[in-house]
Amino acid sequence: MKTIRSALLAHFDASRRALPWRVGRTPYRVMVSEFMLQQTRVETVIPYYERWMRRFPDWDALAGAELDDVILEWKGLGYYARARNLHRTAQVVRERYGGRLPADPDELRTLPGVGEYTAGAVASIAFGRAVPAVDGNVKRVLARLLDLERPAPGRLRREAARLVDPERPGDFNEAMMELGATVCTPRSPGCAECPVARWCRARKAGTVGERPARRGRGRGVRRVEYAVAVLVDEAGRTLLVRRPPKGLLAGMWEVPAVRVGGGGGVGVGAALPLAASDLRPAESLPVVHHAFTHLRAAYRPVIIRVPPSTRRDGCPSRRPGAAAPRGSAWVHHTDLDDWALPVAQQKIGALLTRWLACTPHPGSG
Ligand code: ADE
Repeated sequence: MKTIRSALLAHFDASRRALPWRVGRTPYRVMVSEFMLQQTRVETVIPYYERWMRRFPDWDALAGAELDDVILEWKGLGYYARARNLHRTAQVVRERYGGRLPADPDELRTLPGVGEYTAGAVASIAFGRAVPAVDGNVKRVLARLLDLERPAPGRLRREAARLVDPERPGDFNEAMMELGATVCTPRSPGCAECPVARWCRARKAGTVGERPARRGRGRGVRRVEYAVAVLVDEAGRTLLVRRPPKGLLAGMWEVPAVRVGGGGGVGVGAALPLAASDLRPAESLPVVHHAFTHLRAAYRPVIIRVPPSTRRDGCPSRRPGAAAPRGSAWVHHTDLDDWALPVAQQKIGALLTRWLACTPHPGSG
């Protein structure tokens, strides 16, 4: 046992990547990195992490921030529930724990958005607790080391708990994650360079490529389609509506859309301040596709020109809620970056900008 640990740690010491959350470590910095790294690749996270730390350098800065600003900083990372949970976690840390994150993994698990993996990662990396942290990469490494076809989560946790180095638990867990991300990769594992190849049962059995067994592709994935009404006025402004405070992409802004091909409407947070007879459908923009975890969405945007006389909201308005009906706002297409729009909606915004550039339209610059 000692030898597999030391082989892994020696490899980590020699090759660990220089990542921003590995310097100036504080529990806050570790927690933010682990939230961002849930379901997101290291390379994607780095610039978001650095910007976040400039904007919200500690628990107090984050706890005192407006949720809208927090979501704006997160924009583009996806899975926005993480941003809301991290914000609430900061408030709980401030109010319940006097600004100091608890070190105990069971206590950490009571915080919003902190599951078994994140609690283990933070307890081991930030506080040196000898507990495992089993993310997707570590699952794969363990399934191969132990040659397990479809290991149950409990089994993997027990194996990881047995394996974790009691003296350097944080480094050990990061070394396992890093091995999975850089050497023991899903499709072309580098067994020749692997520091723990001699302990790998799948390698011995010739089953590395089949461990762990893949789930059927696309299983359980729902497909949905939306018709998107890109209302655009003479000044180049478009109507945004706010999504409900709970559920997918909660509280974010979007171009109004209705589900088509069955199912109910979504996302329209307020009645549009227009008479249907005022609307002038113009043309379709290209379809935008976006994959959520269990959902593949296709957005079919249609431009609808809105004459200025039909506007009843007292624009201009740049911030949510200012002089616009509750839950909706007219936003100039060049200002869309300032709003918390999901990725698919940002693409629709970019299509609108391109369409305006190619279409004679007063105020489209
Ligand atoms: N993935 C999740 N946490 C990580 C970490 N601390 N270092 C590298 N990759 C990670």
